[in-house]
Amino acid sequence: MMQSTLKYFFFFFLVSFLFFSLSQFLYIKISSTTYSQYSVVDKKPVHVLVVSSWRSGSSFVGQIFNHHNDVFYLFEPGHSIWMKFWGESSELLHFPLRDLLRSLFTCDVSPLQQYLPNGGKYFSELGFFAESRALCSQPACTAFMPSEGYDRLKCYHRCKNTLLDKMAEACKKYSHIVMKTVRVLDLSVLLPLFRDPALDLRILHLVRDPRGIALSRKYFDLTIENNILLRKHENKNNTMSRVLGKICKAQVEINNVAKAAEVLKGRYMAIRHEDLSNEPLKSIQKIYNFAGLHLTQDLEQWVYNITHVEVEGKYGFMTFSRKSSMVVQKWRTNLNYNFVQEIQDHCKEAMNLFGYRPVGSPKEQKNLTLDLVNMDWSLE
Ligand SMILES: *[C@@H]1O[C@H](CO)[C@@H](O)[C@H](O)[C@H]1NC(C)=O
Ligand SMILES: *[C@@H]1O[C@H](CO)[C@@H](O)[C@H](O)[C@H]1NC(C)=O
Ligand SMILES: *[C@@H]1O[C@H](CO)[C@@H](O)[C@H](O)[C@H]1NC(C)=O
Repeated sequence: MMQSTLKYFFFFFLVSFLFFSLSQFLYIKISSTTYSQYSVVDKKPVHVLVVSSWRSGSSFVGQIFNHHNDVFYLFEPGHSIWMKFWGESSELLHFPLRDLLRSLFTCDVSPLQQYLPNGGKYFSELGFFAESRALCSQPACTAFMPSEGYDRLKCYHRCKNTLLDKMAEACKKYSHIVMKTVRVLDLSVLLPLFRDPALDLRILHLVRDPRGIALSRKYFDLTIENNILLRKHENKNNTMSRVLGKICKAQVEINNVAKAAEVLKGRYMAIRHEDLSNEPLKSIQKIYNFAGLHLTQDLEQWVYNITHVEVEGKYGFMTFSRKSSMVVQKWRTNLNYNFVQEIQDHCKEAMNLFGYRPVGSPKEQKNLTLDLVNMDWSLE
């Protein structure tokens, strides 16, 4: 009696084992054939966070990543947090933001169910979902055939009402996960993420001449953002120069933390908007090296296209044309000298650190042959 029970168990065990092995084999077989066009991720993905500020060209830097086939890119996931908690301060919102970034880097989309405006059933509730090529193609959005290219306008229509789970499924297929944010003003908040064994995080810090930012901000309504930024300040005067002062101070602090933190060695790179505008291909090469990505010929062609196309708006709202190096100088003819001085006062330290020369007179400001971006600049 005992003997036969034992035999029975042994037999049961053997069958289970065989079944398990077979299912594993089939699983690997299926996952490697179905998604052969995506890189099968067998090791920890690379995580890149583009840290910048409003109107500094971070959308363009995001697109540089977005166009690479190995990259799962998300545009500004922290936006939903700021819009939900618009009565709070940027200091407080750092913490839910950090948690959200960590979750999304590990392809856990569940926090979005709480933050998205309509209950988080669909990833299209992320206001800028179509900025992400990965969300506009398979397996995230089955409305696009693999042979079709990335088209953000079509994506807004065709990929609307796609379940949030599809975003998580797609995220797991990529070797690089990249997000950009303008909402990190204190890098020390992110330090625990560098000790997290699930992550392989790198910070790409994009800065821009605050006078250029000031001009660009004039065309955008950032009232909600400004209120969140200045909430902790006693003086509620939400003037542009105060906002810029806070942003400038944050950029200096971010750089200080990066230089001081041992865990950030080799994991931080600063880049200036002006260098990107003047030498896009060289800058993009540097950015890809930092992220461990290869520059393909197709991408090189894309960079050539976007830096030589005259039609503005063709590439979404991060217009970037042959005139981009002229845009760098636009503030010099469009800003009032007194206002420029106010910004220079608030941003002295940042301008010095990142190599932007102040102007001392209206004449200097308007003299475009006088170069105000220090080209010998380097943080290394
Ligand atoms: C706004 O700022 C100016 C100059 O800093 C100051 O004189 C004025 O009292 C401030 N107004 C308020 C309401 O705080
Ligand atoms: C670049 O532009 C040309 C001409 O408009 C177009 O045929 C080509 O597909 C574009 N290539 C990329 C990679 O965007
Ligand atoms: C403009 O700046 C350049 C370079 O410093 C200088 O040589 C030139 O004299 C300036 N022009 C005027 C009109 O001040």
